[in-house]
Amino acid sequence: MSPIICCAVPVEPEFEEKLRTAGELQRLDMRAPRSEILEAVRGADAVLCSPALDIDAAFLDAAENLKVVCTVSVGYNAFDVDLLTGRGVALCNTPGVLNRAVADLTVAMLLMLQRNLMEFEQYSRSGAWGRREPFPALAHESAGHTMGVVGFGRIGQEVTRRGQALGMRTLWYDIFDKAPADAPDSAYRSLDDLLRESDVVTLHTDLNTSSHHLIGERELGLMQPTSYLINTSRGPVVDQGVLTRALKDGVIAGAALDVLEDEPPSPDEEIVGLPNVITFPHIGTGTEETRKAMRGLAVDNLIAVLTGEEPPACVNRSVLLS
Ligand code: DGY
Repeated sequence: MSPIICCAVPVEPEFEEKLRTAGELQRLDMRAPRSEILEAVRGADAVLCSPALDIDAAFLDAAENLKVVCTVSVGYNAFDVDLLTGRGVALCNTPGVLNRAVADLTVAMLLMLQRNLMEFEQYSRSGAWGRREPFPALAHESAGHTMGVVGFGRIGQEVTRRGQALGMRTLWYDIFDKAPADAPDSAYRSLDDLLRESDVVTLHTDLNTSSHHLIGERELGLMQPTSYLINTSRGPVVDQGVLTRALKDGVIAGAALDVLEDEPPSPDEEIVGLPNVITFPHIGTGTEETRKAMRGLAVDNLIAVLTGEEPPACVNRSVLLS
């Protein structure tokens, strides 16, 4: 019998074609009532989805034939890996193909902060320039300043390369203290020393129990009052309430956040409106090229598992060996 593939995200016709060669393709509407979703996944062998699909015990009870969940994301904090592993279901994600997009956005945010670009853009857009109003204060360049990269995985390394290309001195911190073999040459620091020494701290760790609120009151207190924080990883890596206060009290100079603790935030979320904060709606991977590459990788993962091959990226490979 042909395996049943439930597809909860739109994919390009060429990927749809590939999926159809591997099984019977069924659409899954993520906005449908929960009871309909559970009914729809009955009999599914594979699910292609985003982290927005809630895969809990009830879902796995319904989808009792399930062999693999393929998420179109590198982050898998929204999935219960132990639960999936316990039920023998592989969880595949999409690392690697999104490094450039996230690193580019990080650098864009860094330049916006350091060059005070939002204020200059607003000055021009509002007509203040035309009215010859006083010019906003001149800002700073990146060269000669220090970038501290927290999380020296693939994305952190890509950001480091860009920082070095801008002439920045770069530091890194991770839970391991030996740099990966092909990493750019950069100096290791303990987290506290990195926070003390950096003009810009940029976060690239995944979210897990040890990185939850990694940046809190004590850590922000170690940073310089002229320094900036950038977060393109996961919102809960930073204690957002504490960061809000720190930004209002001038503990640090500003922040650029692509991710927040609650997404989407409530319309009156204070941090979004602060003058020294730039926020984006979680668009780190949001380019046509990268999103397509992520969907392609997710499809390859799915087909590999269904055909008994080694998938390019799997979070709980032990499931595939048993
Ligand atoms: C990822 O791939 O994890 C991005 O943050 C999108 O969810």
